[in-house]
Amino acid sequence: MKPRTSMKTKVYISVLAVCLSLLTFTLVFADKAAITENGLVLLKDDGTWIATEANLPLDGPTAMKNIDKAMGMMMGGPEDMKMMQEMIMKRHAEVLAKGEKLFNDPKLGGASKGISCASCHPQGGTTGGKAEIPKMHGYGPFQIPIPSLIGAAASFPKFKAPNADIITISQMNNNCTAMFVGGKRLSLNGEESHALTLYVTNLSKGKQIEPGKMEM
Ligand code: HEC
Repeated sequence: MKPRTSMKTKVYISVLAVCLSLLTFTLVFADKAAITENGLVLLKDDGTWIATEANLPLDGPTAMKNIDKAMGMMMGGPEDMKMMQEMIMKRHAEVLAKGEKLFNDPKLGGASKGISCASCHPQGGTTGGKAEIPKMHGYGPFQIPIPSLIGAAASFPKFKAPNADIITISQMNNNCTAMFVGGKRLSLNGEESHALTLYVTNLSKGKQIEPGKMEM
């Protein structure tokens, strides 16, 4: 068995290394960040800090670089912290607005039936009507009551019959995109899916999270 002290030493050295690199980043990156018109934070000498596309291939080195830059800003003092917070809030609002737009977009996923999410879930609620699932595998058609989405995201992940499995809220959005809006399923790594998920999840703001909860 290896002596424990050598492990401890390794930890100390790693911590020291991290602190040193943070310090370096602070010195190098403080005062070098700028917010562009479209809300991107750029580091003047080093390109994009937060990407517009949430589906960038986030490999290890890219992730570490982004974390280093964020840490650099955090260590840059209260001004930089405030700037970073404002930037994040702005990005949040942007993506939320985009989600709302997609929710109201009858062309979502290339659809052409003239139906958007909001046609059945107006402002995240329900028309109070029913939606029809066409005949499949010899069963149906079924008339299903349209639920309100207020609080819905708080019950995910949960079981859904069409998938015969536990699914996330983003996958559920895709179910409705495919079954009802008539569009193609959005890539779960893509910005559109993230935006729609933020909008739908935001409809559960303040609700208690109860994964798996079924309305009976
Ligand atoms: C034609 C009407 C219709 C349209 C359009 C529609 N939905 Fe639905 N939605 C339903 C029905 C019916 C259900 C219940 C089906 C189920 O739970 O499996 C449902 C369920 C959901 C649920 C799960 C609610 C829960 O509590 O389990 C979410 C989330 C949802 N829809 C989001 C969306 C989004 C996002 C869109 C647009 C991409 C959309 N819906 C478009 C009818 C519709």
